[in-house]
Amino acid sequence: MTESSSPFSESGKTESTLTITVVGASGDLAKKKIFPALFALYYDDFLPENFTIFGYARTKMTDEELRKMISETLTCRIDKSENCGDKMDHFLKRCFYHSGLYNSEEDFSGLDQKLQIKEGGRLSNRLFYLSIPPNIFVDVVRCASTKASSKSGWTRVIVEKPFGRDAESSRALIKCLKRYLNEDQIFRIDHYLGKELVENLSVLRFSNLVFGPLWSRDYIRNVQLIFSEDFGTEGRGGYFDNYGIIRDIMQNHLLQILALFAMETPVSLDAEDIRNEKVKVLRSMRPLQLEDVVIGQYKGHSNGGKTYPGYTDDPKVSKNSLTPTFAAAALFINNARWDGVPFLMKAGKALNARRTQIRVQFRHVPGNLYRNFGTDLDKATNELVLHVQPDEAIYLKINNKVPGLGMRLDRSDLNLLYSARYSREIPDAYERLLLDAIGGERRLFIRSDELDAAWALFTPLLKELEEEKIAPELYPYGSRGPVGAHYLAAKHNVRWGDFTED
Ligand code: BG6
Repeated sequence: MTESSSPFSESGKTESTLTITVVGASGDLAKKKIFPALFALYYDDFLPENFTIFGYARTKMTDEELRKMISETLTCRIDKSENCGDKMDHFLKRCFYHSGLYNSEEDFSGLDQKLQIKEGGRLSNRLFYLSIPPNIFVDVVRCASTKASSKSGWTRVIVEKPFGRDAESSRALIKCLKRYLNEDQIFRIDHYLGKELVENLSVLRFSNLVFGPLWSRDYIRNVQLIFSEDFGTEGRGGYFDNYGIIRDIMQNHLLQILALFAMETPVSLDAEDIRNEKVKVLRSMRPLQLEDVVIGQYKGHSNGGKTYPGYTDDPKVSKNSLTPTFAAAALFINNARWDGVPFLMKAGKALNARRTQIRVQFRHVPGNLYRNFGTDLDKATNELVLHVQPDEAIYLKINNKVPGLGMRLDRSDLNLLYSARYSREIPDAYERLLLDAIGGERRLFIRSDELDAAWALFTPLLKELEEEKIAPELYPYGSRGPVGAHYLAAKHNVRWGDFTED
């Protein structure tokens, strides 16, 4: 396949066509995220005039059946009465289905013929979204590339993690995909990069004078990246047991946030400039050490007459599984800006809350004149919190005088709550990423050297955990996770910020 330099330009908007083929169309991700995101883009007029969507999967289905399936998850964003039904009908009329095997060149030729009919001889751009398990990535890419590439415009492929299980398998996958695709045709999604607050992280840093000077070891005591879900792996045990929380969340979503947080100012906002800086951060990091990691696994728990299953109660998970559903880790960046600053990550399933946060704890005020007017100086340092989800918000914890004649300080927040400040609904991460892939914007996608650097940090630890059969600490479903996470934080002189808020 080749990447032509012409995404639909202004002038080409009407002459060119765009087809988006969702491979694995009957899967969960496609139904819950991809088709709804495509509809949202259509609803907001972000798709070009001539677009067609194809679903591709093994299941036998008619176009009508695909439309029915998709229609069940579509919602209109702003105002249900505003032509919503009409828009849905128009959108669904552009959706078609082709059934085929994932490793059959013949079936992809059949798809190609259908695509050509829709394209009607115009310049054609083709985007393939691989919403399929990684063991069939290469087959699909081979078939799509040899039989269903665009002859006149660009062909791009979006792939989702897992990109391998370790450095070696990831490299092997990169190599196989590159037999059929150039690097600039591969769009590796990390959907956390499409989240509004993660996208805003750079804006906050680089377009506000107040944060830049503070963004270093001189003023920042520690940084915490927290991911917590209040549900377990129900229904996904088969996949999860082969990966675990470190591969599922830390090595990608949290590490990507860390890289954006810690990178130096890029030369420009161009994808390559940003990704160059992210790679530098990853390559300056020390690979994870076992003593800087705590792992946990949730166990069954009854509460108020309700019983919550343990991880190993899942029929697809072995009873003796040692796969972590929780992990906490301390990471370090060995460069001049961040030397000695702990970056603490915590990720867990079946905890007491659903939240993703970036917390930046600042150092104490040296020689604080007011140290005797507050209670706990440790708590009283400034803290900047980016509440990625839910209830998107950015707040800065400050010390403030309690109004009145005496002198008493308390902790207050300067608070930017998105729902109070902006009336617009926040788009789903997949909408932003699909739009970028269509436009050829690679800033939010993972480059292969980035992936390599990310695996280099985690692979030795993962191997050690697995080879030594290290048992995770059990924690009850719906709890705050293993106590070990506190000891780990304490070892680095840190208190988890989310605990003060529960
Ligand atoms: C996925 C993980 O990448 O992200 C899931 O595989 C996790 O285990 C999901 O539940 C969380 O995404 P979000 O956008 O719902 O926070």
